[in-house]
Amino acid sequence: MGIRAAAFTLCSLLGVTITHGAPLQCGGAFTESKGEFFSPNYPDAYPNNADCIWTIQSTGNRIIELTFPFMQVEYRNWDAHCKFDAISVYDGAMSDNRLLRRMCGNETQSFNSTRNELTVHFTSDSTFPDKGFHAKWSFIDVPSLSEYPVTDAVTPTKEPTDIKCGGELTEPQGEFSSPRYPKHYPNNAKCIWTIQSTGNRIIALTFPFMELEADWRKDCRFDSVSVYDGPASDKRLLGRLCGTQTGNYHSTRNELTVVFSSDSSTTLTGFKAEYSFIDVPSLSEYPTIAPTEDPTGTNCGALLVEPRGEFFSPNYPNDYPKNARCTWTIRGNHIIELTFPFMDLEHRNWDPRCSFDSVSVYDGPLSSDHLLARLCGNQTLSIKSTKNDMTVLFVSDSTFSKKGFHAEYSFIGALEN
Ligand SMILES: *[C@@H]1O[C@H](CO)[C@@H](O)[C@H](O)[C@H]1NC(C)=O
Ligand SMILES: *[C@@H]1O[C@H](CO)[C@@H](O)[C@H](O)[C@H]1NC(C)=O
Ligand SMILES: *[C@@H]1O[C@H](CO)[C@@H](O)[C@H](O)[C@H]1NC(C)=O
Repeated sequence: MGIRAAAFTLCSLLGVTITHGAPLQCGGAFTESKGEFFSPNYPDAYPNNADCIWTIQSTGNRIIELTFPFMQVEYRNWDAHCKFDAISVYDGAMSDNRLLRRMCGNETQSFNSTRNELTVHFTSDSTFPDKGFHAKWSFIDVPSLSEYPVTDAVTPTKEPTDIKCGGELTEPQGEFSSPRYPKHYPNNAKCIWTIQSTGNRIIALTFPFMELEADWRKDCRFDSVSVYDGPASDKRLLGRLCGTQTGNYHSTRNELTVVFSSDSSTTLTGFKAEYSFIDVPSLSEYPTIAPTEDPTGTNCGALLVEPRGEFFSPNYPNDYPKNARCTWTIRGNHIIELTFPFMDLEHRNWDPRCSFDSVSVYDGPLSSDHLLARLCGNQTLSIKSTKNDMTVLFVSDSTFSKKGFHAEYSFIGALEN
């Protein structure tokens, strides 16, 4: 059995469907005097990588009026060009190049054609689909088409040159970082790096530095770095990071994608990533992971700088997810005291090392030299740092989830010297 056949069998066994490149049915050609159309799947999210064209054609002295009762398309407020997902309306055929407007976000404009044809082109990129749009048209009788001045070909507004990010990387090793690194990254950024190897080489990726806005309760929903095995559209999410989480990842095939996105508030230093290709005997040895629709729950952790605060295991007080790994870094120019008002983690009384699920508390960064305590079961002791950093690592394995923990910390007195 050849490598390709072996890989195929493995994918079949795992029930993975690779939809990369499958054509999407969308768009249409209308000649009725009124009607409506919708983005694919509306009102559910449109698919990634959509490319749909609708043409509306009238006859005689009738122009076409087009309205958008609803529009919600991926949008960044620095992206005047609608570089990611967009709806473009053309007066005439697309090839005439008379662009009336390229839109994203929630614009609800109306348009009139100046002739017997109007074209709507909808495109989406490989990430962050939104609800899409609802469009309606009707013909309007006019005395004569010649009364309508033909609009010149319009080139869309130039995108701001400030934020350049993302890219395609094919060198066997390299590094990249968040926009403006080590200065704070911009709000509303979205950057996609695609790393591509060839032959029997997979891609290894590490993050030597990460400091993003943290959202330890809900899946890094503010600012995040997502790592995908293959293109982002395959949804084989290897990890989503925020706060000071770091991780090591490797692809199982010739492509790895990193997506950085930031929301409209709070920016920090960002991240630095390094990658290299690894020679492997055969790609088919690497099982393909299943697509993940919603990674909620397995991402967690935060950078905590307030003088006092609390944090919880993911989903608390409901059961924590399996295979979780969360890091909280508490930072202040003070000794830090940490207590656990509640703890309920998987525990065996023959396992004093907490080998299954555990909370580890480090004096400073993660390092076995700095381990102050490893906890599981219902231990509720209080722990003090000797440094101005304390790191709390929560890990769960693939069996027996419990309620988790509630932790409280406070800065107690300045560091000596
Ligand atoms: C459109 O988006 C803006 C900014 O996000 C928001 O303030 C406004 O309410 C939205 N309008 C509609 C009709 O959704
Ligand atoms: C389109 O034409 C109709 C009829 O003349 C007019 O009422 C409407 O305001 C026009 N719409 C736009 C967007 O120009
Ligand atoms: C912790 O667990 C032990 C043994 O299971 C039990 O005896 C004890 O009551 C528990 N303590 C709390 C505070 O739940």
